[in-house]
Amino acid sequence: MSVHDDYRRRGIGRALLNALIEAADRWHGISRLELTVFTDNEAAIRLYRQAGFVTEGVLKSYALRDGMLADAFAMAWLRT
Ligand SMILES: CC(C)(COP(=O)(O)OP(=O)(O)OC[C@H]1O[C@@H](n2cnc3c(N)ncnc32)[C@H](O)[C@@H]1OP(=O)(O)O)[C@@H](O)C(=O)NCCC(=O)NCCS
Repeated sequence: MSVHDDYRRRGIGRALLNALIEAADRWHGISRLELTVFTDNEAAIRLYRQAGFVTEGVLKSYALRDGMLADAFAMAWLRT
């Protein structure tokens, strides 16, 4: 997910993520959501943690980013 630079820190990312979780949980019966996020993406990691995602592990050298291999977190949300 991505929010345009000019509209960040206004609650849009949180609203989008919460809408996705609510649709998955209440309308589709999905009990587990997964995502990957680069380990240095503090803004996204904070957003995901606030929404209830937990870190399940580190994916070493997950993807090539501007010529360097970067690590990513595997995160998941589970219905409680
Ligand atoms: C991550 C992203 C989607 C957040 O969208 P947003 O609309 O700016 O986020 P919100 O305003 O809803 O913020 C929700 C929470 O996210 C965290 N957050 C968002 N931007 C942050 C920043 N620059 N620094 C630290 N925390 C941040 C905060 O915890 C925030 O809660 P708070 O404002 O109560 O502190 C946005 O920064 C983005 O598009 N980034 C580039 C694309 C990207 O990295 N996507 C994720 C790929 S895995």
